[in-house]
Amino acid sequence: MAKSRGRLYLWMCLAAALASFLAGFMVGWFIKPIKETATSLRYHQSIRWKLVSEMKAENIKSFLRSFTKLPHLAGTEQNLLLAKKIQTQWKKFGLDSAKLVHYDVLLSYPNETNANYISVMDEHGVEIFKTSYLEPPPDGYENVTNIVPPYNAFSAQGTPEGDLIYVNYARTEDFFKLEREMSINCTGKIVIARYGKIFRGNKVKNAMLAGAIGIILYSDPADYFALGYTQRGNVLNLNGAGDPLTPGYPAKEYTFRLDVEEGVGIPKIPVHPIGYNDAEILLRKVRMHVHNTNKITRIYNVIGTIRGSVEPDRYVILGGHRDSWVFGAIDPTSGTAVLQEIVQSFGKLMSKGWKPRRTIIFASWDAEEFGLLGSTEWAEENAKTLQERSIAYINSDSSIEGNYTLRVDCTPLLYQLVYQLTKEISSPDDGFENKSLYESWLEKDPSSENKNFPRINKLGSGSDFEAYFQRLGIASGRARYTKNRKTDKYSSYPVYHTIYETFELVENFYDPTFKKQLSVAQLRGALVYELADSKIIPFNIQDYAKALKNYATSIYNLSKKHDQQLRDHGVSFDSLFSAVKNFSEAASDFHRRLTQVDLNDPIAVRIMNDQLMLLERAFIDPLGLPGRQFYRSILFCVYISMFSFSVLAACFWIASFFEVLKLRFLGRKS
Ligand SMILES: *[C@@H]1O[C@H](CO)[C@@H](O)[C@H](O)[C@H]1NC(C)=O
Ligand SMILES: *[C@@H]1O[C@H](CO)[C@@H](O)[C@H](O)[C@H]1NC(C)=O
Ligand SMILES: *[C@@H]1O[C@H](CO)[C@@H](O)[C@H](O)[C@H]1NC(C)=O
Ligand SMILES: *[C@@H]1O[C@H](CO)[C@@H](O)[C@H](O)[C@H]1NC(C)=O
Ligand SMILES: *[C@@H]1O[C@H](CO)[C@@H](O)[C@H](O)[C@H]1NC(C)=O
Ligand SMILES: *[C@@H]1O[C@H](CO)[C@@H](O)[C@H](O)[C@H]1NC(C)=O
Ligand SMILES: *[C@@H]1O[C@H](CO)[C@@H](O)[C@H](O)[C@H]1NC(C)=O
Ligand SMILES: [Zn+2]
Repeated sequence: MAKSRGRLYLWMCLAAALASFLAGFMVGWFIKPIKETATSLRYHQSIRWKLVSEMKAENIKSFLRSFTKLPHLAGTEQNLLLAKKIQTQWKKFGLDSAKLVHYDVLLSYPNETNANYISVMDEHGVEIFKTSYLEPPPDGYENVTNIVPPYNAFSAQGTPEGDLIYVNYARTEDFFKLEREMSINCTGKIVIARYGKIFRGNKVKNAMLAGAIGIILYSDPADYFALGYTQRGNVLNLNGAGDPLTPGYPAKEYTFRLDVEEGVGIPKIPVHPIGYNDAEILLRKVRMHVHNTNKITRIYNVIGTIRGSVEPDRYVILGGHRDSWVFGAIDPTSGTAVLQEIVQSFGKLMSKGWKPRRTIIFASWDAEEFGLLGSTEWAEENAKTLQERSIAYINSDSSIEGNYTLRVDCTPLLYQLVYQLTKEISSPDDGFENKSLYESWLEKDPSSENKNFPRINKLGSGSDFEAYFQRLGIASGRARYTKNRKTDKYSSYPVYHTIYETFELVENFYDPTFKKQLSVAQLRGALVYELADSKIIPFNIQDYAKALKNYATSIYNLSKKHDQQLRDHGVSFDSLFSAVKNFSEAASDFHRRLTQVDLNDPIAVRIMNDQLMLLERAFIDPLGLPGRQFYRSILFCVYISMFSFSVLAACFWIASFFEVLKLRFLGRKS
């Protein structure tokens, strides 16, 4: 019994994808070959060239300057004013519509009159040291009000006290090591963990599971380079749920809400971030003072559209968040400024009479920092339409996190398009004058699998594309400038989520000419243009087949360490590799027929395009991953298991995935 169930899982991964894909092939079989005329291709390229050359570094700089003068925390008046400003500009740029869309979601703020801090106690319980909670403001920002002090959003309230235990990064393996090798029991203790390696919400979950009564997070100089920075950030375990009180549904006036106690992923223990200068001083016994409060608060997305002239019912989405912890000049405003310049440039094309073939949707999301809330709520409200009509989602969060080279994470469907477009964008890097972005990218960061191509990463999580890619199965991608992965081992960038993410920091240290942000704008904008205006959607399925083969091999290689466990479960990889092979053959066949499509036959074009559009959707498991119903992309399952946990934890997780699937098939409640 166990044997056949295990096998069932293995090919199930791809069988669903294959079934709908192959069905699509049958439909598109009898089509006559006619080539698109060279004139129309040249016209198409000239429009893209106009769009890209409309974009100016100077404009991105002035948007960044204007959007970072004040803090824009989600749920505040200032962030609503910024939403209205963006909306007004989008209308002025000439979009067909620009609307504010609101949701009432659970947010979390510190108590203004009752500060959070950690104290050290002497043997009589007297507090002999208190951590500071104020960051000295950067020059020129001394008089700015409404700066939220460092805190961990959605922490439980409380004043636990107890012995302090250092738990490294608070990963699963760190707690294993404490328990099994060092015989240290965290039950009833306060733990202190350094930021980095895994998402902070997972650290808190692990600490809770280990029995800790509170957790302190700090930025270690070994991970964050500089002393004294204190990273803000939410500590939810949402797993894609969006607003914790309305999982699966938009947080509108009419929506049923869970009680806060039942909210998704809200930690039950107090959590608080501190700087290394304070962390160094903490002694054996501490008391935490955490008074954050959860509050249902109105947030606002700005949604702008350019209506498609030929296929208005097909959407290409470009979205990025607007809310920031404080000034947010890197995260997200280097992306917001880029988004603004892209919208302005599309507006200029429209003023000359151009209209895209498909509808373009621009989105300025709210409350990303509180768990990707604005983007997820909008996806929930429009889920049915979006999954039936969306071609692709391109993310526009931070456009720089370093100044070394380009970084792209995307679906394999977009690899060829990204390579093609970067070859036509100028490199902003010193020493690469008159060279393309592709050339500097390839030289600085070749792929580890094939040195002839630049590296492109898998899409994980951590920004607003999540609901679109992992839940709805819409082909997605993101691009930004990044650090040198070989020499710079630090987690994120030093001032991440601190008061020091200012315009001056970007201007003085990251991108003085704003050329790197311009390149990112050109790439994001050109992707949107090609996806919205090409007659045939520029996706490549053969690259998907290659990626699948690679993922399957990686998982197979990984599984060898746990041979016995897999044998006990009767697991074989044969069907998986057979499915990958069949998929590859189908993909080659599809591309062969694509070259023969009569481009003047609108039905024939639409047939091929619908199959291309729905390919990513085929990788969605409607039941979701075990215990994570909103993570529905089968490939993400591979991603999570290999990269978010340790190899050992991944194998346990894969094994438990088998178990849950077995229970499902046997009709028992999991
Ligand atoms: C903030 O703390 C004060 C003092 O403890 C308390 O009276 C007040 O209710 C708290 N505010 C909120 C929003 O919880
Ligand atoms: C802050 O306010 C003080 C007192 O009004 C003023 O002297 C100073 O110039 C202001 N600083 C900035 C950077 O605006
Ligand atoms: C840790 O301590 C708690 C209570 O002190 C106890 O219930 C638990 O079994 C201990 N765990 C281990 C692994 O020893
Ligand atoms: C780049 O090209 C321009 C014009 O073709 C030329 O004048 C310039 O010298 C070139 N720069 C470098 C560094 O090759
Ligand atoms: C920007 O590039 C320069 C030169 O490569 C490097 O020294 C500097 O550290 C970089 N700045 C940041 C913030 O990464
Ligand atoms: C899997 O293992 C084989 C043999 O050790 C190796 O050649 C291959 O590169 C590995 N593939 C991946 C994707 O890990
Ligand atoms: C792949 O195709 C072959 C030939 O049609 C078929 O026998 C095999 O079952 C397919 N593999 C899977 C996993 O469906
Ligand atoms: Zn961000």
